[in-house]
Amino acid sequence: MLKVDGISIRGINGIFDLDIKLNPGFNFITGENGIGKTTILDCISSSFNRLSRHLRRNVSTEEGFWVIYGKTADRSFFEHFEIKELEVINENIGKNENRLLYRRRLRNAILSKELVNFSIYRNNNYGSMNALDNVQSWFYKNYFSDMHISEKKYSNFNLAKSCFEKLDPNIHFSKIEQRKLNNSPNIKADIYLETPSGEIPLNYLSSGYKSCLNILLGIIRTTEVTNAYNNVHDYNGVILIDELDLHLHPEWQVKLVHILRWLVPNAQIIAATHSPHIIQAAKQNEVIPLKFENGEITLNKNVNSSEYGFQGWTVEEVLKDVMGLKDTHSNLYNDLLFQFYKALDNLDVEKAYNSYKEIIKMLHLDNHLKKILKIQMGGLGEEINFD
Ligand SMILES: Nc1ncnc2c1ncn2[C@@H]1O[C@H](COP(=O)(O)OP(=O)(O)OP(=O)(O)O)[C@@H](O)[C@H]1O
Ligand SMILES: [Mg+2]
Repeated sequence: MLKVDGISIRGINGIFDLDIKLNPGFNFITGENGIGKTTILDCISSSFNRLSRHLRRNVSTEEGFWVIYGKTADRSFFEHFEIKELEVINENIGKNENRLLYRRRLRNAILSKELVNFSIYRNNNYGSMNALDNVQSWFYKNYFSDMHISEKKYSNFNLAKSCFEKLDPNIHFSKIEQRKLNNSPNIKADIYLETPSGEIPLNYLSSGYKSCLNILLGIIRTTEVTNAYNNVHDYNGVILIDELDLHLHPEWQVKLVHILRWLVPNAQIIAATHSPHIIQAAKQNEVIPLKFENGEITLNKNVNSSEYGFQGWTVEEVLKDVMGLKDTHSNLYNDLLFQFYKALDNLDVEKAYNSYKEIIKMLHLDNHLKKILKIQMGGLGEEINFD
């Protein structure tokens, strides 16, 4: 068991001074580009694993450190990590460890097995295998090459199979086949799925489907490898997911959140997101909204959701008030509207009409503003042919 209760970061990357508390369940970190979402996830992951090479001391601070606190099955922890150097000394990841001036290793270092990290590079190719290839060969080795699989593996195999259907009810697991490789000691395998257009290899499916599956099967794989859990539903460690919405259509983003709630109900999930749809699917107190204030990154304390979370908020309200988008309209639209109202104030019929015509062309067919602008134009008292 591992739960992170909070983290305080001082002088790391763009963060000067930030304290955040975390839920034992879901946490969605949100805010504009460069606000520090990935930095927070990297600090958490580096507390239990190898130091991320993306973490540096802030250029203008004397010190760079973070403090992380939480609990494991048998104790509480409170740990301090410091980065001395400003720049990465050596791109060789092993040597980067030298940048940690002070690191009190957590007793029982097995804790790294209680943390699964999906970085933004999770779908990238590395070497001759891509991430999904790795998951597929694990699937084959674990569930098919052994004649007698344990009860636990059998149960996880069924959970893995149901992930295919949960993502898309029209898609079902069909079979898995070992891929023929010339002169390679690696086992590779292809999962085949039953789809409305026939039986096709998983690699042919959409990148959104594969991206979700990579996360879901990746979680099952990690929890199974650690051997600490009877069933993936029991997993009560930490899962970090950067850009949860990566490659996904809004409907899929929300679906993935629901499937994660089902698959790992006892896990602590800490995810970064740019998606207002995911925020809408969050429950009360699950969102950590960050904003810039006087050049510093802080928690946006003005964002208060009700017992319904943000389910009653429109996407526009979430974008502006939770995610820090300054305006949800384009600059051109704002300029034209400004010109229109200025012309109305000056009773300049011609200019008002010119702006009006352009705004009408760009509005959504059902936008209620069309009627309002028409009434306002009419208010100028001139005979205008609107058609
Ligand atoms: N050593 C440093 N000193 C000062 N600022 C830094 C340093 N290293 C990185 N930064 C700043 O930190 C920010 C990077 O933060 P991070 O990648 O955590 O943001 P993010 O919220 O994940 O953004 P995105 O939404 O684009 O992924 C950048 O704005 C960068 O300018
Ligand atoms: Mg990021």
